[in-house]
Amino acid sequence: MLPDPVLPTLLPRPSAISVDEYRQRRDALMAQLPDNSAVVLPGAELMTRSRDSEFAFRQNSDFYYLTGIREPEALLVLLPGRSEGESVVFCQDRDPTMEAWTGRRLGAVGVVTEHGVDQAFENADRAERLPELLAGRELLYLPLDNAEAVSVAEDALQDAQAGLRRGRPALKGWLDISPLIHEMRLVKSDAEIALLRHAALISAHAHKRAMRISRPGLSEFQLQAELEHEFVWQGASGPAYSTIVGGGANACVLHYIENSAPLSDESLVLIDAGAEFDLYAGDITRTFPVAGRFSDAQRALYQVVLDAQVRAVNAVKPGATLADIHQGVVRDLTAGLVELGLLEGDVQARIDDESYRRFYLHSTSHWLGLDVHDVGTYRLDEQTPRPLAAGMVLTVEPGLYIPCDDDIPDAYRGIGIRIEDNVLVTQESHEVLTAGAPKEIVEIEALMVK
Ligand code: GLY
Ligand code: MN
Ligand code: MN
Repeated sequence: MLPDPVLPTLLPRPSAISVDEYRQRRDALMAQLPDNSAVVLPGAELMTRSRDSEFAFRQNSDFYYLTGIREPEALLVLLPGRSEGESVVFCQDRDPTMEAWTGRRLGAVGVVTEHGVDQAFENADRAERLPELLAGRELLYLPLDNAEAVSVAEDALQDAQAGLRRGRPALKGWLDISPLIHEMRLVKSDAEIALLRHAALISAHAHKRAMRISRPGLSEFQLQAELEHEFVWQGASGPAYSTIVGGGANACVLHYIENSAPLSDESLVLIDAGAEFDLYAGDITRTFPVAGRFSDAQRALYQVVLDAQVRAVNAVKPGATLADIHQGVVRDLTAGLVELGLLEGDVQARIDDESYRRFYLHSTSHWLGLDVHDVGTYRLDEQTPRPLAAGMVLTVEPGLYIPCDDDIPDAYRGIGIRIEDNVLVTQESHEVLTAGAPKEIVEIEALMVK
């Protein structure tokens, strides 16, 4: 008999977000709305992939944030002040035949008992119930980019015009709900932070796994397979976004997701990959030599990016701004490029004339949460960058991408490097959620020794 394979360990999992926390979020949202208004927020629908097969279902992040419900074809209605219940969900009908094919459905009873909303109806009752619920509400809040929500509002307007004759208040119009929800999502709760920490931990394990197995002769997709195996093994739903594995000059294509090329002996490979756990995203980039040892040119350029990245991470604290952190990165990268001879002249002049943008054209950070490029504005108004505050989670991801042009010294041509961590703003300073993924040159080389 063959011995049992040695199984990788399952990382301890954080608890799910409580039903109470979802209720508090709905209450906090309603507390911001005027009297006699209502919220209409559809969940995501199933999308056809081809013929009768569908893409894996992914719930709408705003709907999930307010309900924790993962079923398709659901609709949340919030009715502040309604005595029979302020939060109402319409959900898929219980249907034994459909459930035999695609699995158990919550039904109205399950939505109330398992998710703590006040009242639920199945979609078969929606045509009758929804107009009754919205009747007499003067202002609707909905995601204006959602066709289903807008059509609910248009129907409510027609019904309201008919109702005027019976003395009901008039529906005055509708406003965008998204900015209110997105402002709430920007500052993460302890339970959300635990999930983000876990997504980051799984992602870091996956990057280490890719570093350990990397060698010349493998192809980019084989490293992708290693990463995504680790994600799913650890109970993540899969990648939080399309995994990027770019060997050699493919690393210079910012959103390279083809992952089809062989990995060559001399080159670096850039991996940008993160797990999605309970719908929360990890987002890590690491760049390392395919064969485990940096060349002199790779080492020099890598150290420039790493120094800029470490300084930027260390600048994360309450009151700092992403604009300032980005400016610091631009200064450090430009100084490095001048030092290495890839730019000429005065550092400040190269910043001012933006010639550094030939090598660094993206920004340094974005918010991270239920979405990889998470919601929340980056400015308080046109002039004022938003100061960081405890509970915000962001990425810090400087990079340098050197084109294969004739004026570039041979040794640097086609090198692409990005180093990306996920960082929580704490009361005093910050916590790097992705510290488990090595980024120092000596750590990477030690892990990769074959
Ligand atoms: N993976 C996308 C990003 O880093 O923003
Ligand atoms: Mn990334
Ligand atoms: Mn990112």
